Amino acid sequence: MTDQKRTALVTGANRGIGLAIARGLAERDIHVLAAARSVEKAQAAVREIDGSATGVALDLSEPGVAGEAARQLAEAYGPIDILVNNAGILVTEDLNELELADFVHSLQVHLIAAFELIQALGPPMRKRGWGRIVNMTSGWGAFAENLEGPFAYAVSKAGLNALTVKSAQALGESVKVNSACPGWVRTDMGGEQAPRSVEEGADTPVWLATLPDDGPTGGFFRSRKPIDW
Ligand SMILES: NC(=O)c1ccc[n+]([C@@H]2O[C@H](COP(=O)([O-])OP(=O)(O)OC[C@H]3O[C@@H](n4cnc5c(N)ncnc54)[C@H](OP(=O)(O)O)[C@@H]3O)[C@@H](O)[C@H]2O)c1
Repeated sequence: MTDQKRTALVTGANRGIGLAIARGLAERDIHVLAAARSVEKAQAAVREIDGSATGVALDLSEPGVAGEAARQLAEAYGPIDILVNNAGILVTEDLNELELADFVHSLQVHLIAAFELIQALGPPMRKRGWGRIVNMTSGWGAFAENLEGPFAYAVSKAGLNALTVKSAQALGESVKVNSACPGWVRTDMGGEQAPRSVEEGADTPVWLATLPDDGPTGGFFRSRKPIDW
């Protein structure tokens, strides 16, 4: 990082790992745009963040919304240097019971919205010569771990991993695009039995969001170590 103050957009920043990522970035003197489905939720998150943070409404449920919203945020708050695609949902039905609408919704939140945000913010990062993009995926969406998650979750997170690779190829060396698996984390999604705290889950994505210029791009990381796709 240079001394210049960076701006980061974190989706799903109102609770769980997203809130911990937002706090971790704000601690590193980054201005955080903490995005949540409603401005009320986003502002409540900001009250839990020490440092420079602004709550912004960003509901990722519909296609064609996130990209334009990101462009408007950049106009309002200045260039966005860091994007963390963290928002996620866990649809648990297996193939037989899975409703088409739930499958589409999983793809929308995990993949389509992330694509729109990367398409809106990635090329301007490249033009400025610096950018960091982190996609929150999961070992449950890794072929190397047998796509172990529930159907819609595994397929959509595997798609997000593919988006990481293609975006890294498209955006060049100055924009580092990586996937992060946070491990199994105690959140509403992860449940109370999970061994990791939200701070531990946020460690790898915060590290990837602040990589030095010689850091990796187009990779998949857990506990700051590369893992197989
Ligand atoms: N917890 C784990 O063990 C674990 C393991 C591997 C990967 N992950 C990944 O890590 C990320 C964070 O997980 P978490 O455990 O912190 O989950 P969480 O506690 O369930 O929080 C999910 C966040 O995503 C937001 N979100 C969901 N749908 C959205 C939408 N349509 N538009 C905007 N925001 C939306 C939620 O907002 P609302 O509050 O409005 O619902 C919430 O802020 C997810 O991508 C998850 O897949 C988690």
